Amino acid sequence: MSQKPFFVLANFKMNMDTASLKKYFSNIKKIAKYTPLGFAIPYVYLANSKKIMRHTAVKIGAQDCSAFDKGAYTGQISAAMIEDVGCDFCIVGHSECRKRGDSNADIQHKLEKLKNTNVSVVLCIGESLEQRKNHTFDAFLLEQLQTVFSTFDANELERVMIAYEPIWAIGTGITPSMEDIQATILMIKRMIADHYPSPMMMPKVLYGGSVNQNNILDIKENTNADGVLVGGASLDIEEFQRMIKNIC
Ligand code: PGA
Repeated sequence: MSQKPFFVLANFKMNMDTASLKKYFSNIKKIAKYTPLGFAIPYVYLANSKKIMRHTAVKIGAQDCSAFDKGAYTGQISAAMIEDVGCDFCIVGHSECRKRGDSNADIQHKLEKLKNTNVSVVLCIGESLEQRKNHTFDAFLLEQLQTVFSTFDANELERVMIAYEPIWAIGTGITPSMEDIQATILMIKRMIADHYPSPMMMPKVLYGGSVNQNNILDIKENTNADGVLVGGASLDIEEFQRMIKNIC
């Protein structure tokens, strides 16, 4: 089994509460040494999660941020606020946010705001089933990647991760074949290399969409993903522990 570091990023979406997070994280502390871990937490629990996980290498981050700096944007949370509560990263461009209206232009503004902080970025990209079937997904993914290309210089890529999440695989229990994941991630890495011919560091490219305890090892061993973004299967601590055990 290969020993490459494999980043497991859990996205809790709009789930959990104070008590369940406390219990969950006390179990995570026991397995945190086995593989790099990150958790994208609802805003209101970020500061407390960061506090619970201090003295560990576990990364804590937000699921989205505002495209604006500050002001009359009721209900929004700025990149600077996310930095202020000590977050390590922020997801941007999740397909559930794109579905609610985020355009690539909005996403680029969010990336620009995050660039002014110390918070790393996880940009989610992914095509629809129709785009996959009619082979237009490559141009679509490139367009989504342009938001990073227009925002970050080659020497800033250590702050960027890409999560390839086909929309049709999110929350459906369906995943692409390992060959398709491998080919698409290779293509994404090639697109990045074409734009940044000699980066100091290539961004990690994760796979997301119906990752679970049964397929995580296959993804780790049989694709060139640098990690996974896990939604539903991360919510149950026992399942999550089994996933980590399966890859270590
Ligand atoms: P899923 O979600 O693992 O439940 O498919 C992944 C995601 O939305 O990031």
